[in-house]
Amino acid sequence: MYPRNKRFFNNYPIVIDTLNSTQDYLKEVVKSSKKNEFICVIAKHQTRGRGQRGNQWHGNLGENLYLSFLWPKPKIKAEDIFDLNILISLSILDASRTYLTPEIAAKLKIKWPNDLYYEENKFAGILIENSWSQALEYSIIGIGINVNQQEFTHIPKATSISKILEKKIDLQEFTDNLLEIIQRYITNFDTSRNTNKTLYLDHLYLKDVLAPYRIENRDFLGKIIGIDDFGRLQISESETIHTCQIKEITFLA
Ligand code: BTN
Repeated sequence: MYPRNKRFFNNYPIVIDTLNSTQDYLKEVVKSSKKNEFICVIAKHQTRGRGQRGNQWHGNLGENLYLSFLWPKPKIKAEDIFDLNILISLSILDASRTYLTPEIAAKLKIKWPNDLYYEENKFAGILIENSWSQALEYSIIGIGINVNQQEFTHIPKATSISKILEKKIDLQEFTDNLLEIIQRYITNFDTSRNTNKTLYLDHLYLKDVLAPYRIENRDFLGKIIGIDDFGRLQISESETIHTCQIKEITFLA
C-alpha cells in the first residue's frame, strides 16, 4: 500500500503506520520546521483521531483514509474563510463520485458545514485548523473518509464508500485521486470561488426540504435556503430567516 509514487504539490505524502492523529503530527511539524510548503501526512491508523467540536474520530486500521495536509499561506481573507470548507467538501465529493454510478452519486450530499453524507449516513468529515498572524499563516486540513470499513457498531449513522458501492475500494488509488483533485481545486482556487459556492449549494443536504431543527432550545420545522457570505447557515421558518453558526443549530432529522 502507498508506494509514494505521486507528489502532492512538490512533496510526496508522508505515510506512517500509526499516529495519535495526523492533525497533531502536522502541528508538531509546523512547530519544529518549515511551514512554507504543502506537506501531506497519511496514517493507516490513528489512536486519538480528532473530530469537530472536540469529538473523537474512530476508524479501523488500514481500511479508511486518515489524512492531513498543511496549506501554507492560503490567500484568503478572514471573512472568506468558509471557502476552504467548500473547497475540501467538493474535493471529497468529486473523489467519491468517481466510484459510483450517476444515480448513486446523485445521493451524495454535503451536510453543512462540511460533513459528507450518503442518504442519512455520514461517510467523511473534515477538520480545518487555521493559524492567523496578520493574515492567514497556514491551514492544517484534516480529512477522514470511511473507505472500506463495513461495520460501525459504536458509531450511529455512519457508512463507507465501499458499503455504498457494495465493493472493496483500492485505498491507494482513492487517495491518489483525492490528492490530485484537491491540488486542482487549490490551483484554481482564486478563479473558482463563485462556481464552487454554487456547486456546494447544489449538493447541500436537506436544502429546500422541510425538516426539524433546534435553535436556542426551541424546536421548529424549517427549510435550509442557503449560506450567507460568511458561510453561516440560513434556514427559513415561515417568514423568518434564521442565520446560524455551527454551535447555534442542531439538526433533529
Ligand atoms: C469530523 O467530522 O468531526 C471531522 C473528522 C476529521 C477526522 C480526520 S482523520 C485525519 C485527521 N486527523 C485527525 O485527528 N482528524 C482528522
